[in-house]
Amino acid sequence: MTRRPSQSLEFDAILDEHRHLRDLVRLIQLGVLHPRPTAGVVRRLLDELDVALRSHFEHEERDGYLHDAISVEPRLSCLANRLFQEHADFLAAMDALRQLGARASETGDWAEFAGAYAGFCRRFDEHETAENRLVQDAMNRDMQAED
Ligand SMILES: [Fe+2]
Ligand SMILES: [Fe+2]
Repeated sequence: MTRRPSQSLEFDAILDEHRHLRDLVRLIQLGVLHPRPTAGVVRRLLDELDVALRSHFEHEERDGYLHDAISVEPRLSCLANRLFQEHADFLAAMDALRQLGARASETGDWAEFAGAYAGFCRRFDEHETAENRLVQDAMNRDMQAED
């Protein structure tokens, strides 16, 4: 199967979104690792991450590269659907993190937030890695089919 040019462009756009999200996630990590985190900055970055995640998830679920991958390799649809379902869990986790962040900015104790955020980062990294791998598998399958 020959890949339409728009599919390649779409994949690049999503990789850019993944990079942007990864940078935001790391910025917050760095902010929280500081001995005295600047509450306003951390909370503003959390708001930014929340908006970016919602837009990214909507993009992926609506017409993103995961759909292109499924059209190339329908057997990947089960895994893609599981990844889509995880989006709701991440948004719920973001709500909880924003509440923890609000509490930490009042008390000055960021330990609970840092622990919860570390878990979020680990799960989100696994999620994004699984998506990249899924697309890579579909592209490999597509190239084998062309041979
Ligand atoms: Fe996703
Ligand atoms: Fe993603």
